Amino acid sequence: MPVVNYRLDGNVAVIEIDHPPVNATSIEVREGIAVALKDAAADPVVEALVIAGSRGIFIAGADIKEISSGISNKFPTLRDLQAQMEAVPKPIVAAITGTALGGGFEIALTCHWRIAAADAKVGLPEVKLGILPGAGGTQRFTRLAGPEAALEAITSGNPIPAKRALELGLIDAIADDALADAVVLARTAAADRRPLRLASEVDDKIAAVDTAIFGAFRKKLASKARGQLAPWKIIDCIEAACTRTREEAFNFEREAFNECRESPQRKALIHLFFAEREAKKVPDLPADTRPLPIRSAAIVGAGTMGGGIAMNFANAGIPVQLLELSQEALDRGLGLIQKNYAASVKRGSLTEAGMERALSLIQGVTDYDAINGADIAIEAVFEDMKVKKDVFTRLDAVCAPHAILATNTSSLDVDAIAAVTQRPQSVIGTHFFSPANVMKLLENVRSKHSSPQTIATAMSLGKLLNKVVVLAGNCDGFIGNRMLQFYSGEAEFLLEEGATPEQIDRVMEGFGFAMGPLAVRDLAGNDVGYSIRKARKIPADERFSPILQRVFEAGRLGQKSGKGFYRYDGRTRISDPEIMTLIEGVSRDLGIARREIPDEEILVRLLCPLVNEGAKIVDEGIAIRASDIDIVYVNGYGFPSYKGGPMFWAQDFGFDKVIATMQKLGATHGRRWRPAPLLERLAASGKGWS
Ligand code: 3HC
Ligand code: NAI
Repeated sequence: MPVVNYRLDGNVAVIEIDHPPVNATSIEVREGIAVALKDAAADPVVEALVIAGSRGIFIAGADIKEISSGISNKFPTLRDLQAQMEAVPKPIVAAITGTALGGGFEIALTCHWRIAAADAKVGLPEVKLGILPGAGGTQRFTRLAGPEAALEAITSGNPIPAKRALELGLIDAIADDALADAVVLARTAAADRRPLRLASEVDDKIAAVDTAIFGAFRKKLASKARGQLAPWKIIDCIEAACTRTREEAFNFEREAFNECRESPQRKALIHLFFAEREAKKVPDLPADTRPLPIRSAAIVGAGTMGGGIAMNFANAGIPVQLLELSQEALDRGLGLIQKNYAASVKRGSLTEAGMERALSLIQGVTDYDAINGADIAIEAVFEDMKVKKDVFTRLDAVCAPHAILATNTSSLDVDAIAAVTQRPQSVIGTHFFSPANVMKLLENVRSKHSSPQTIATAMSLGKLLNKVVVLAGNCDGFIGNRMLQFYSGEAEFLLEEGATPEQIDRVMEGFGFAMGPLAVRDLAGNDVGYSIRKARKIPADERFSPILQRVFEAGRLGQKSGKGFYRYDGRTRISDPEIMTLIEGVSRDLGIARREIPDEEILVRLLCPLVNEGAKIVDEGIAIRASDIDIVYVNGYGFPSYKGGPMFWAQDFGFDKVIATMQKLGATHGRRWRPAPLLERLAASGKGWS
């Protein structure tokens, strides 16, 4: 099957990319376009060209697999095609439907004109893959839309709706039928002998740019893009577009692209791109499983999590009821939702009308009977098995027979919750992360009896609610929290041995974590952390550090009480000698001689236990694949995306080195800290996670 179709519409050659699923410019596509351009240039009947995509999508970019394999460098490259296009002395118009992203948008930007469907989106998302637009994207975009717009759009990688693209000058018109209008424009331009407009030559928006904008933007991005390579290189490229000759600036972009492509960050982020898509797939579901359509939802409990979960549904345009025990609790929950939306409006990320629309979809209720029409009910009440069982018994009694009953528990046994209902097949865990209206991760937890349709429906919430979704098996803590206990537990052992909270958090934040483990403890609350720890049963040969308990008993609950592992001025952490006295007291009581701990030891000793438990989780089938764990940690626990997630890190670091670390920890901390059998098998076989 040809991947590029070529046909004549009178005197206009229509070159249509037809390469499922997303018309990526793989080598076959590039070869096809090169041949089509050559034919169109040579055919005297052809007076103009249109480039379009089939199945409602223009081109989603370079083929990402080829970037890793190096095939994207093979002739004809995107740049070769662009040189060929710019040499064709006939008008070329892009007909943009669906998405024109990355290399796809770079092709469109090389056309003389661009017409887009009203619902089309364009953009340069390369930064999300650890690279930058490598085919003149930073240059042509900047020339057409100006450096300010380019800085925002290309360092964020976010798609730009057609209407905004038109305002920015990135496209020339919006049409109901982009292809038909593109053909008309191409024909008219040829007939009128309109001068062919090359974005690479437009220079009015890059003439007299105040170069101070680049310094200011670097400052603005400093904390957001900490540790990353591509965003900074993108700023350099945009600055080059405004300060260097055209040839120099295009070459500069090329070199910057190559540097990013060779970086470990590119490898890590492309790993995550495919991991995120794999995570949606559940191999044991029958192929004909269809998710239940979710037209309405009910959330039980309007606390921290329930309110955020309700916002997710409202944001997706789905009516949602929020059920509370009392009018007072309900009003408090609804008030918080209102406050959150108002803050978004104030920030400019939501319009007043958008807020009103979302709020009109949220209905507060205090009566279980009111939620009998919901397709899914999600329980987000206190983390207490007795309360959960009571809520599920009531939900089972009132909800429609087809409705799915989900729990947002962060660690309780989903099988036990399902067992109190007459429909265990319709029960599942949907573990959202806090704040639920912001955090991207949804960790679904299948119970022993969850039916294929129940699982498929929970997985479909990912697309519906714009979440990154992973399926876990039912065990204490599921994937994320089960692993976390070893990570935060090890942080306390390091404190006992001689580290300080500042040192541990500095090392982990230096690695790229959004927050170090002790700052996270203070944020979540040391009362919450200690109550989870108390409920945990551990083998006789194992111990927990007493530090958390002592911190809790000292009333140091964290940010909420103004002191925990730090003292707080608002949210600002301040070192506190009192906590060191407490920690040193623990070392003394345990007879541990405190020592200077090197930063490298801290990093490895915190990451290895995370990986080790992850390996057990894979071996037990709790996670379907190792890369699912990377998705959980990057999207739910602040693991730096450009390091690829803990399991990806471990493979790079070396399984043998992880094992060596665990052997030492196992000897001092107990059985659960010994190397996972899967790691030993992988180290012996020399294989990676598969
Ligand atoms: N290359 C290869 N495969 C791609 C791809 C690409 N650019 N984009 C998507 N795919 C694949 C996915 O892996 C998935 O495969 P699977 O079904 O086997 O899992 C399939 O296409 C469908 O993708 P999604 O599940 O993401 O489908 P959606 O409909 O939800 O989203 C999309 C479609 C918006 C196009 C989204 O896939 C996307 O954002 N793709 C990436 C776009 C991108 O990053 N482009 C830049 C590439 S780099 C580049 O162009 C370099 C250049 O500057 C030189
Ligand atoms: P919360 O204490 O803020 O809210 C719980 C709400 O449930 C309260 O408003 C309470 O009035 C209401 N409630 C209690 N019993 C009820 C009942 N029988 N019917 C209706 N409403 C009832 O708790 P939070 O933090 O929102 O946690 C809820 C669940 O989400 C827990 O299972 C928790 O483990 C889980 N979770 C919490 C996270 C967090 O960071 N807070 C993160 C992920 C999951």
